[in-house]
Amino acid sequence: MVLKRVDYDDSQHVNYAKGRRMPPEALARWMARFAEHLPERRPLAVVDLGCGVGRLTPALADTFGGPVWGVEPSARMREIAEATASHPAVRYREGEGARIPLPDDSADAVLMFLSIHHVPDRAAAAVEIARVLKPGGRVLVRSPFSDRMNGGWWQRFFPRALEIERQMFPTLAEVTGVFEAVGLKTIALEVVNETYAANATEAAAKLRLRAISTFEHMTEAEIEEGFARMDAHVAAHPDDHPDTGESELLVMG
Ligand SMILES: C[S@@+](CC[C@H](N)C(=O)[O-])C[C@H]1O[C@@H](n2cnc3c(N)ncnc32)[C@H](O)[C@@H]1O
Repeated sequence: MVLKRVDYDDSQHVNYAKGRRMPPEALARWMARFAEHLPERRPLAVVDLGCGVGRLTPALADTFGGPVWGVEPSARMREIAEATASHPAVRYREGEGARIPLPDDSADAVLMFLSIHHVPDRAAAAVEIARVLKPGGRVLVRSPFSDRMNGGWWQRFFPRALEIERQMFPTLAEVTGVFEAVGLKTIALEVVNETYAANATEAAAKLRLRAISTFEHMTEAEIEEGFARMDAHVAAHPDDHPDTGESELLVMG
């Protein structure tokens, strides 16, 4: 199965902010997680590569001081970031993994939060990331890896979802390999336990917004059948505690 490229300008931008909203506690947990792998001095300059609507970008500036550059190829996602996630230390810029609009040695850290699987040329992106990183800088990659996924709460309702996601996401070795090729080494690999929503009812409502690119690779019939299965499950188990499935934080430097 060859998956089409998902362009966030087409439809994903419409519901992304609402469908993928991260509660402040979750955001704070992520910032603490990143801080464990970065120097204590402040300020730190950070690139949020594939920043989308700026879900994490202002929090990165609050935590690390900045400047923080939110680099994003989708004009629609960037417009939403500029309108709803502004911060004095944040600048949003057009760019992508293999084309970061910054000089050499600019950043203490480059974060790729659920964006590396969208980068078509990951080897070129690793070269570009290494170029903009200061000596001793860190790459933080938050992603599922296709060889380490078993599926999450919602995937049980959509029989092809896991197969699609195994195609969408790179393997761990593929990602470490492209960064090793530019001289970076694995520093940490941590499993992330993230709650998708407080309960099944809330999770189902978020999922219905389809703000997950997996849906872009399914037929309308498959999606509707999956939602029907999900609704039946939620009616029977309204207090289920859904998690997102396996996701990991890879730190390289
Ligand atoms: C799942 S969203 C994640 C956005 C943000 N990091 C977050 O967690 O909310 C994936 C983002 O990657 C962006 N993207 C697509 N192709 C990319 C590329 N080649 N380089 C960097 N980002 C890319 C998409 O436009 C989209 O905004």
